[in-house]
Amino acid sequence: MRATTQALIAVVVFVFFLPTTHAQTGNISEGLALTPPMGWNSWNKFGCDVREELIRQTADAMVKSGMKDAGYQFVVIDDCWQVSRDKEGNIVADPQRFPSGIKALADYVHSLGLKFGIYSDAGSKTCAGRPASLGHEYQDARQYAAWGVDYLKYDWCNTGTQDARAAYALIREALNASGRPIVLSICEWGTAKPWLWGKEVGGNLWRTTGDITDQWDGKKDGSLGMLTILDLQVGLDSFAGPGHWNDPDMLEVGNGGMSDTEYRSHFSLWSILAAPLIAGNDLRNMRPEIREILTNKDVVAIDQDPLGREGKRVRKDGDVEVWAKELKDGSRAVVLLNRGSAEKQIAVRWEELGYPGHLSALVRDLWQHKDLGKFTDQLSSPVAAHGVVMVTVRP
Ligand code: GLA
Repeated sequence: MRATTQALIAVVVFVFFLPTTHAQTGNISEGLALTPPMGWNSWNKFGCDVREELIRQTADAMVKSGMKDAGYQFVVIDDCWQVSRDKEGNIVADPQRFPSGIKALADYVHSLGLKFGIYSDAGSKTCAGRPASLGHEYQDARQYAAWGVDYLKYDWCNTGTQDARAAYALIREALNASGRPIVLSICEWGTAKPWLWGKEVGGNLWRTTGDITDQWDGKKDGSLGMLTILDLQVGLDSFAGPGHWNDPDMLEVGNGGMSDTEYRSHFSLWSILAAPLIAGNDLRNMRPEIREILTNKDVVAIDQDPLGREGKRVRKDGDVEVWAKELKDGSRAVVLLNRGSAEKQIAVRWEELGYPGHLSALVRDLWQHKDLGKFTDQLSSPVAAHGVVMVTVRP
């Protein structure tokens, strides 16, 4: 009898406390990334060549270039900052490349009014072969929180037979238990369809594809160019929303493999997709044209629209595509995309935007920063080869 009573009490205590603990830890990460995260990450340009001066100088440049004013916030060190674990199993930053330590670096980034991000991996080693977090999830999360980390990109190399959903749920639990709100960037490349479970496990963004390469279209060797990645986003829009975003990978704008026209297309398309806008170029040495692309506030506003809808492809005729995104005020952002190598006339009909044709709507060109006037039924415009025209259509 006594044993039964004890068992009963144990069950009651368990049932009573378990949901409370969950609710409390769950709240810490609530309200993160209500619009797609904006920032910079070292990987696309610098790969493993990361060191503390680069991170400090990049944070400085983010402020000086006007990127911070345009909404960029996170400064994220990708792979290769870590070299080993100490006797207690604590992760150790490369002492040669980060002599002042990660905490000092995070403090510096914070002193500029920016946020600080770092990288790890769910497996035994990161993609670059550095120590990863398997078996150290809670310890690492505590360490990140102590350093002042605001954003964790968590990769998927060397994970063997691990279950992706469980691994990302575990790191989210660990991050929450650290007591610090930390954005969780799931980097699983789309293999286990993270759009189906990323939100539930508390991921704030999830990669939908393999790594982007700095080229307009993919090559026969399977490398993913910007348009290849764009095509892979079709059909995923319904999974995105405030706090949880599809991530078609970081920006290549300014890295040299595409023309300025193509980079303008890349940036416009990522914005209409409500993609995280994580610059991947050298912010310390930007041509004015590149800075103007990354800081185009009219285009950034489409990405950051508080309704949080991801845009969709509403028409594809060969090389001609029309993409549209619903905005909070009821208007639409539209990208007319010309994938071909000659200029083309491209039209969008109001009915393709969910409006009646007779509706009179004000059209604004977001690259010319100019109101084009009122239009009914449709807008038709010449679009340069590999270029876009990006507008808002406001009834
Ligand atoms: C993977 C990721 C990249 C980058 C590298 C680092 O390939 O997808 O974005 O983080 O690992 O090694």
